[in-house]
Amino acid sequence: MRAATLSAYAAPPAVEERPDPLPPASEHGVLVAVTGAPITPLDILCSTGTSYFGPPSLPYVPGVQGVGIVRSGPEELRGRRVWFPTTAGMHPGDGSLAQLCVADAADVVTLPDGVDDALAAALGLSAVAAWEVLSARASLADGEQVLVLGAGGTVGQVAVQAARLLGARRVVAVCRPGAGTERASRAGADAVVSLRLGEEVADLAERVRLECDGPVDVVVDPVAGVPASAAAMLLAPGGRLVNLGSSAGPVLTVDSATLRSRSAAVLGYTNTSLSPHRRAATLGTVLRHAAARELTVDHVSVPLADVSTAWADVAASVATARVVVRPSAGG
Ligand SMILES: NC(=O)c1ccc[n+]([C@@H]2O[C@H](COP(=O)([O-])OP(=O)(O)OC[C@H]3O[C@@H](n4cnc5c(N)ncnc54)[C@H](OP(=O)(O)O)[C@@H]3O)[C@@H](O)[C@H]2O)c1
Repeated sequence: MRAATLSAYAAPPAVEERPDPLPPASEHGVLVAVTGAPITPLDILCSTGTSYFGPPSLPYVPGVQGVGIVRSGPEELRGRRVWFPTTAGMHPGDGSLAQLCVADAADVVTLPDGVDDALAAALGLSAVAAWEVLSARASLADGEQVLVLGAGGTVGQVAVQAARLLGARRVVAVCRPGAGTERASRAGADAVVSLRLGEEVADLAERVRLECDGPVDVVVDPVAGVPASAAAMLLAPGGRLVNLGSSAGPVLTVDSATLRSRSAAVLGYTNTSLSPHRRAATLGTVLRHAAARELTVDHVSVPLADVSTAWADVAASVATARVVVRPSAGG
């Protein structure tokens, strides 16, 4: 088979011929013919060898998730269109950026009609995280106000739409100027605040405050840094800020008086603490909304042959939308 193969840390993978993976010996595994695999920030992070999972052994095929058709495995899954996760880059083994990939049968999620492979691949774990943060970690209640940071990203776009679906009264988005701002608007944010280079936390907080309808109940934060520090100043009594990433910086600062006077909470979130059952159920919910045309995300498809360039663009933060690689079509 042909597969994107990573042979050095922090360098893009190259397409190479590799032996086909063996069909799983037990009914606990599936062999999937991959039709779509996204390049995500987690893939890039693992490839640098600096993630908290430790440096992966080289060479390996990256790709922590994908979609495709089950070639072999339990009878009831054979021939089905599925989404599947892998642990590539986090634990030994190969991932989804290949024509064939092995996954755990217990982890796969059958795709509903009405969602094409590329969209399902683009939504994947980022959409699961956005949905879980709002519905479970922050326990969003009907009529609350939500602030979504990094709203031009995949997590951010889904969070804007999910907040609406889950009953938010107002959704304000914060993101970098340009394509991200347009994506946040398209996702349905009531107001979009564009970041300014070098802006002080207090100044950004004031600009965001002007777009909000009073204090903020829930902040979805995939970025940390200045945007998150500004958002923390706007929390309502009982407000919850949930951090799930650090695209804008490794630290967010929160004033003690703000936290205690409002009994506010700053929480962390990771998909890795979800059980496979819970992850599958949440992805199922997301995909049902996608099939009903209530939820989508900007994405572009590229053939496997273009994976090195596409990877470098994502790593340099210049990709315009979630990149989904098509290993079996024209690669
Ligand atoms: N904890 C979890 O389980 C989990 C799950 C999924 C994702 N994540 C994390 O969440 C983050 C976003 O993931 P994603 O899938 O949405 O990625 P994505 O689609 O590639 O989006 C990139 C995100 O990073 C933001 N960003 C990049 N550079 C920035 C900068 N210099 N300043 C401010 N914002 C910047 C973008 O903000 P703009 O809107 O301004 O473009 C956008 O929100 C990543 O850090 C990812 O690792 C965590």
